[in-house]
Amino acid sequence: MPIGSGLTGARVLVTAASQGIGFGAARAFLGEGARVVVNSSNADRLSRAVAALASSGEVHGVVADLRARADLDRLLEETVRHLGGLDTLVYVTGSPRPGVFMEQSFDDWDAASRMLVVSPAYLARRSAEAMLAHGRGGRMVFLTSVAIREPIANIATSSVCRIAVAGLVRTLARELGPKGIRVNGILPGYIRTDRLDEVTRDAARRRHVTPEQARADLERDIPLGRVGTTEELARAVVFLGSEMSEYVSGALLPVDGALLRSVG
Ligand SMILES: NC(=O)c1ccc[n+]([C@@H]2O[C@H](COP(=O)([O-])OP(=O)(O)OC[C@H]3O[C@@H](n4cnc5c(N)ncnc54)[C@H](OP(=O)(O)O)[C@@H]3O)[C@@H](O)[C@H]2O)c1
Repeated sequence: MPIGSGLTGARVLVTAASQGIGFGAARAFLGEGARVVVNSSNADRLSRAVAALASSGEVHGVVADLRARADLDRLLEETVRHLGGLDTLVYVTGSPRPGVFMEQSFDDWDAASRMLVVSPAYLARRSAEAMLAHGRGGRMVFLTSVAIREPIANIATSSVCRIAVAGLVRTLARELGPKGIRVNGILPGYIRTDRLDEVTRDAARRRHVTPEQARADLERDIPLGRVGTTEELARAVVFLGSEMSEYVSGALLPVDGALLRSVG
């Protein structure tokens, strides 16, 4: 018997999805027959994304700033209104400003904590409430970064704050497992998006090399020899956000072309 995703008609929310990793994940869920709400903070970019996704299936856009509590509340309410409930949350977020540790101010830490710690925890709470309300369990997939295992120099706030997502995944997997909700995380390595271009340009400036040179150096360090695509990452998101991973919860899956050297 074929191994299906079981996503036909599933109700999926993908945050930070007007482009990049979130957009790729939304398109993959639509391809599996899911009904999807995509979110981002910029109305123009989000409406362009919804237009680009519309031919793939039922998709709705909800503009909300993931750093604002009122927006998170409204995002969940509008998602449930559009879809009639929630089966899978895919949490992607924006990026803090790149920079090494000694360049970061109190305000940088405050903003990064809000974006990378407080917001995923609060949205998880609201999502769990929505999933429990319809009694069918659910799935959550949190996108974090390989930086939580091996810190990356010029994204200091990310390397520190994103570790909280690993704690969130394990905490929720234990607390919500008995209620039928599975919770997992993905650690992307380097995925070709605007964010990767921004980080590569920043690294090039520091090392006084061209962005092309910085990219080539980065790819030399990846055993599979190249950065990944959003489509490749999306397959892992669909796996964890669907019936294909029914006995997987509390896992943190690197999707990094074997970049990570650490064991465990
Ligand atoms: N690309 C990589 O190699 C890589 C690796 C590891 C981790 N990550 C992390 O994965 C996440 C997504 O990365 P990406 O490469 O897809 O970045 P991207 O191409 O820059 O996309 C970022 C997305 O976040 C949305 N966004 C930004 N601020 C937001 C806010 N306050 N509220 C709601 N949405 C917001 C943006 O939409 P609007 O501008 O329309 O709001 C956009 O859709 C980031 O946190 C990034 O740091 C990326």
